[in-house]
Formats: sequence, structure tokens, C-alpha cells
Amino acid sequence: MIGEPRLGDVFGEMIRDAYAVATGVGPRPLVGGRLPRPVIEIIERDDGLVNGAPTEHYLAGPADWQPYDRRAVDRVHGRTLDVGVGGGRIALHLQERGVPVTGLDTSLGALRVCRHRGLRDLVHGTVDEHAADGPRYDTFLLLGNNVGLFEGRERAPAFLAALAALARPGARIIAHGTDPYGTTDPVHVGYHELNRRRGRLGGQLRLRLRYRELGTEWFDYLVCSVAEFAELVHGTPWRLTDVDDTDAPYYLATLTLRR
Ligand SMILES: C[S@@+](CC[C@H](N)C(=O)[O-])C[C@H]1O[C@@H](n2cnc3c(N)ncnc32)[C@H](O)[C@@H]1O
Repeated sequence: MIGEPRLGDVFGEMIRDAYAVATGVGPRPLVGGRLPRPVIEIIERDDGLVNGAPTEHYLAGPADWQPYDRRAVDRVHGRTLDVGVGGGRIALHLQERGVPVTGLDTSLGALRVCRHRGLRDLVHGTVDEHAADGPRYDTFLLLGNNVGLFEGRERAPAFLAALAALARPGARIIAHGTDPYGTTDPVHVGYHELNRRRGRLGGQLRLRLRYRELGTEWFDYLVCSVAEFAELVHGTPWRLTDVDDTDAPYYLATLTLRR
């Protein structure tokens, strides 16, 4: 249909261009301009809201991280799976520190950038697919707001079961989330209400990403309060053992595998 995006690896194309702008390496170092310009992630929500977000932070080193990212990596122990590794910023830092780390992502383009940046151990696919491969981990990272990958009430139990299947005894999940409910913006408050009316969690976003001519399918990405998060974890193989909300509305939740 005219005007509809072509389905493709939006995140991968975007991160490839962001990497090219940052380093000069890649097919579009100037992103089609005469001077370098920022690569913007276009996020469409199903109420019609469109947001643009700069992408350099996906490649940033520890000096430019938010404080909760630094506290998250300090909690890592043992063999680590970075779930939704993106441009590899966290996994690369861990690898440099000698931590055995694997980066997993559904975006081939993102994994290509990670490999070019020197990240050695990479897996393409979902946690469910990786569970069949056999490796076991002590730490799972869900950073860069990747509590989002819980999606909502339907997906969360299966997602946590897949992580449990990949876990060694005593394993932990360190997940970064954002409480969306502090806002007074009527557009967001109205969207949360709409979601609840249709039986979804208030911050269960229905999104599509766009970059240039490409778009993703519509998918659910969860932003939720700590109380909602605790509710999703209840009855799964995981226990919520710590919440660090020093930088509220952002939080780091630690889940520990039940014995
Ligand atoms: C918001 S970015 C976060 C990237 C990285 N964790 C960071 O902190 O910079 C989300 C990443 O998760 C990946 N992703 C999305 N859905 C996924 C899934 N079901 N399984 C694994 N990775 C996924 C995306 O391709 C993207 O690289």
C-alpha cells in the first residue's frame, strides 16, 4: 500500500547508520546529508503518537551511561547473557572486564555492529530459541528499558520460563524499567486509561518502529510500575529480591531464581 513502510530490520539499519556517523565506518557515514546528522529512531504508538529519539546512546561508553547502568553492571556475576544487546555498549564493557558475556538479539544488523565493535560471543534469536541451544547463565541483563520485553500479562510468564530454562542455580535477572504513571501529560494519561479499558496494563505500549523506508510489525513493549512488575513475576520460577529506585521513575529490579 502506498505510504506503508516495508517490513525490515529497523533497529539494525538504524544502529548501522548511528555507528557510521560515530566512526565513519559503514555505507552511510553522513546519513545521506553533506554534514553528519543525528540518526533518529522513530517510534509510533497505536494512538497515533509519534516520537523521535536520538540513537547515539546505544553506542555510548560507560562515561556517558546513566548511573543505574553502572550500578547494573556492578551486580553482574558469572556467565552473563545480555538480552537485547543492541549496539553492544554494556556487553563490550563486560567483555573488556573479563566477564564471559554473550549478546543476544533478534536484529541481525545490531549483531553485525556488535561484531564489528569486537564483541565475540553473539546469538541471533529470542530467549525461547536460545534455551534449546544448551548454554546456562548466572546473570541475565535486560538493560536500556528492556523490561519492555515482558510485553504484558500474556508473554511475561513464558519469557521468564525461557530465562529459567537458561539459568544456573542461583541465577539473577537484572532488569531496567521505567514507571510511566508519574506523568500528567493528558496524551499519556489518556493512553494508559485506554489500555486499561481494553484489558491491557496501562503502560503496555503497542508500538511500531520506523527508519527511512522500513517499519517493524506492531509489537507490545511494556513500561510498568514496580508493583505491576512484582505482580507479573509472582508465580514464576523467579523471586523479586531487590528494587533500586534511586533514580526514580527509573528502576533496576533484581530477580533471583527460586531453589
Ligand atoms: C531498547 S534496545 C536496548 C539495547 C541495549 N540493551 C542497550 O541498553 O543499549 C532493545 C533491543 O532489544 C532487541 N530486541 C527486541 N525484541 C527482542 C526479543 N524478543 N528478543 C531479543 N532481543 C530483542 C532490539 O533489537 C534491540 O536491540
